[in-house]
Amino acid sequence: MGAEAILFIETLKEGLRASSSSTEGIRRTVEAIRASNPLYHWTGVYLLEGSELVLAHEIGKPTPHRRIPLDRGICGAAAREGVTIVVDDVHADPRYLACTLETRSEIVVPLKAGGRILGEIDIDSDRHAAFTPEDRERIEAAAALLSGFISRFSGPVPQTSAAPPRARAAGGEGR
Ligand code: SME
Repeated sequence: MGAEAILFIETLKEGLRASSSSTEGIRRTVEAIRASNPLYHWTGVYLLEGSELVLAHEIGKPTPHRRIPLDRGICGAAAREGVTIVVDDVHADPRYLACTLETRSEIVVPLKAGGRILGEIDIDSDRHAAFTPEDRERIEAAAALLSGFISRFSGPVPQTSAAPPRARAAGGEGR
């Protein structure tokens, strides 16, 4: 990873450390990603709710796709398959759901915790094939950080799990 990528990751970590809610962590992460590259024209995070991806935060022209069923779009495919999808030419991909007329390429990186899909980071660019292997590496690192952060707030579902760190930190003595 180059110096720029390391700086990017440090900025993300700092943003998450300063966040006191899942919503704030998502917003700061979207802001940091958008600010990291002028080619990321639309940057957003979707969270999985039942069988739909629900838009949590976006920067860019507001997308008409605020809720995406898992069986639709490049977004649905990435969440269903649990893998990163990079599309160099969105118009050549039959799965593509158009967000803006200008969009040419897209990357979708799932947010995963313990094998569970939490949502995804979605970025659109007006440039053809804007997403390089280095972009992918950086966004996947961002997704790993954000997934860990979100799962601490939502907490693991099984009742056998330990209390999330924030609960312990806020617990004080005698609890
Ligand atoms: N293009 C996505 C839809 C979301 S917008 O890009 C913001 C898709 O094909 O799933």
